[in-house]
Amino acid sequence: MSHIRGRLGKKADSLVVKYTSSLPFDWRLYRHDIAGSTAHAQMLAKQGIIPAQNGEAITAGLAEIATEIEQGRFVFKPEMEDIHMAIEARLLEKAGAAAAQLHTARSRNDQVALDMRLFTKEAIDLTKEAIEDLQRTLLDLAQANQEVVLPGYSHLQPAQPVLLAHHLLAYFEMLSRDDKRFKCARKRADVLPLGSGALAGVVYDIDQAFLAEELGFAYISRNSLDAVADRDFVLDYHTAASVTMMHLSRLAEEIVLWSSAEFGFIELDDAYATTSSIMPQKKNPDVAELARGKTGRVYGHLMAMLTTMKALPLAYNRDLQEDKEGLFDTVDTLLPTLDVMSGLLKTLKVNGENMRHAAGRGYLLATDLADYLVGKGEAFRDAHGIVGRLVSYAAEKGRPLNELSLDEYRRFSPLFEADVRTISLDSSLAARDSFGGTAPKQVTVALAEARKRINRKAKERA
Ligand code: ARG
Repeated sequence: MSHIRGRLGKKADSLVVKYTSSLPFDWRLYRHDIAGSTAHAQMLAKQGIIPAQNGEAITAGLAEIATEIEQGRFVFKPEMEDIHMAIEARLLEKAGAAAAQLHTARSRNDQVALDMRLFTKEAIDLTKEAIEDLQRTLLDLAQANQEVVLPGYSHLQPAQPVLLAHHLLAYFEMLSRDDKRFKCARKRADVLPLGSGALAGVVYDIDQAFLAEELGFAYISRNSLDAVADRDFVLDYHTAASVTMMHLSRLAEEIVLWSSAEFGFIELDDAYATTSSIMPQKKNPDVAELARGKTGRVYGHLMAMLTTMKALPLAYNRDLQEDKEGLFDTVDTLLPTLDVMSGLLKTLKVNGENMRHAAGRGYLLATDLADYLVGKGEAFRDAHGIVGRLVSYAAEKGRPLNELSLDEYRRFSPLFEADVRTISLDSSLAARDSFGGTAPKQVTVALAEARKRINRKAKERA
């Protein structure tokens, strides 16, 4: 039985104990809980709310408990309701009367809010690092393959040629936005809830600024009811994680496609591939498939948490205990997904030849032909129609555009001249010279800019 039953005359039913305990999962908050309790005890002593030697006995006891847990010597008793109770009960064994003063001017409601905020901030820092690592991998891969051209697609139909580096930089941009989302999430998590007590504030002369300083919080909560009932910062993590996983799932999908025999654009390293238990020829992209697949569970945790929070009256309700497993699982899913995708990209082989070959098929230069006619005075809409008929003619004959004779071209428009022959993959790329376009000139600048941005971010963190 838990060490506090207070007004309750009976032991909790064993079903209830099991049903209500969060210890099987919230033990993961032990470091945050001990950090919070240590700062709290120091504050109580400093303010003269408890005797200095009791404050010292508490902090020493907590440090021992941390070591016990880290060394696997701590006994997690299943009858304990949560990690807060488990640690406090152990502290009572160690430091008796002094330990009994720890819970002065605090409640588990502000305590658990604190632990979750500490955990979330730490998770965000790790997430931002992993995002940055993946961004660097994308940049390295882009830089190493600056000459490589492949078909750009819309509707998954070959559309216009693009540089591989340009394609990879698109993912860099997605991850930059993800990083910013986590940065905002961190700011909202960065609020100290201690001092809120159970819901209404506390009667002691506490020092919240000291606690904020000790525990590394930039802000102090402005409303005690909100502070103990708020889990927006958990939702913020889930939201940012969901969008990041959505981006990773798109990258994963392209890796699945590109590594297929039909595309043959990339080859996965053996260390990042799997095989079939029956078909010996198989080299499967399971890593990318799982990254794609795991996106679903992260979305699920976001929906679960939104639904848990919906219509909860102020202030703390036990429903809030449901915030933990989802958050832990989202962190445990997102971090390794970022890491494994980075490893997969670092080791894959780019088949530049196949990409260029594919870009040469499928009439990818049709838009350039239309633009050519516009250059000769045709209106774009009419040029579009002319080239459409030309492509249809070439397709019927099964010939690529550059194998048609000038006479054949001129059957569709007298504006075609010998210089139509200069239209090529490379001229097509070079022509798309708008800011943010795929022209090699633009991409070179974009690569350098991206490198600068990521280095600046790293400096910010250091
Ligand atoms: N295990 C609880 C949670 O995770 C801690 C807070 C419990 N507070 C309470 N009044 N029962 O939310």
